[in-house]
Amino acid sequence: MYADRVLSGMRPTGRMHIGHYHGALKNWVKLQEEYECLYFAADWHALTTHFDASETISASVWEMIVDWLAAGINPSRATIFIQSRVPEHAELALLLGMITPVGWLERVPTYKDQQQKLVDRDLSNFGFLGYPVMMSADILIYRANMVPVGEDQVSHVEVTRELARRFNHIYGREPGFEENAKAAIRKLGSKKARRYGELRTAFQEQGDAAALDAAHALLNETQNLSLGDRERLFGYLEGARRVILPEPQPLLTETPKVPGLDGQKMSKSYGNAILMREEPAEVTRKIRTMQTDPARMRRSDKGDPERCPVWPLHRIYSNADTCDWVVKGCTTAGIGCLDCKQPVIDAIIAEQEPIRERAQRYLDDPQLVRNIVADGCEQARKLAEETMRDVRGAMGLDYS
Ligand code: TRP
Ligand code: SF4
Repeated sequence: MYADRVLSGMRPTGRMHIGHYHGALKNWVKLQEEYECLYFAADWHALTTHFDASETISASVWEMIVDWLAAGINPSRATIFIQSRVPEHAELALLLGMITPVGWLERVPTYKDQQQKLVDRDLSNFGFLGYPVMMSADILIYRANMVPVGEDQVSHVEVTRELARRFNHIYGREPGFEENAKAAIRKLGSKKARRYGELRTAFQEQGDAAALDAAHALLNETQNLSLGDRERLFGYLEGARRVILPEPQPLLTETPKVPGLDGQKMSKSYGNAILMREEPAEVTRKIRTMQTDPARMRRSDKGDPERCPVWPLHRIYSNADTCDWVVKGCTTAGIGCLDCKQPVIDAIIAEQEPIRERAQRYLDDPQLVRNIVADGCEQARKLAEETMRDVRGAMGLDYS
């Protein structure tokens, strides 16, 4: 019943840097070729840590979205929207909050981590504790099954899976579900019905995930099923309940860590970032002045690429030959650091050229961006409203 759908979001942080590009956006661009994708600016999430700076959020959202488009997110392939423009997210978050044990939230590793790291922030709020509930609503409201995220967000997707399971368990009860499901199976025709039964048994008795996938595929290619029967058959595979909110999977893709100019994590607030659309002269200046192996004070000192923040950039931007040249030249003092940095400078400038070009249209005509996002919000809202109808119905809150 649910085709592959990808959803991801980012908190608005204004202009993107090359860490965002290599860590997320490049992958988002690739995914849009293959799947239905929804990408959104998580403006409410920004408030969980920065409720006192709400006036800066909207400018950051627009800057960020221009950079998404510049990176190659194609609005005719992917839906781009803003979280708070789809208020159904808040409704679902509220309802999920009713079934969320507080202990689950207190045990999410980022909860304590962030409180320890962001000491200058007031994080003793309900909203901050509820961050994973809001994120769960973002995902579940689109019935997305793939959520590309970084390592740090995986625990939140885990909460999402648990909440989906709990929701289905509590509200997926339908009187006569078993009989209705069996009647639906008969409607598949004898051959498909037998196959469905085998796959269901394989999944339920052996936990065979491939069998579950195969059963989903079988249902997806079966056309003459009513929506209700289809949903029942999906639910019946996994138990004696309807699946109202399917469980998503985190999509962890290998992405290189991009260090900042000082070797720390790249972040605009640390002042160590190279922007995704940096002026070429600035790219050159920033890389040329960037730190290297501290042991290499003079040109004649030998260095060790493993101790140098330029090296990870070579790993991203340079081919094997250039990397060999770096290792050899560095460890024998055969090349100077400025020689070593030049190929990185050239590669970054070349990579950013088409990005700067794509951005120009949107910078020249900001209304274009507004229109793309308005369309995206409208599309997202339609999908969100469909899920909410089912959610309200399952909970008995549809007042029809
Ligand atoms: N929490 C994510 C981050 O800080 C952003 C986010 C919010 C998100 N809702 C989401 C990511 C839903 C994926 C899916 O990076
Ligand atoms: Fe770093 Fe290259 Fe200098 Fe070695 S030669 S210290 S890898 S910049």
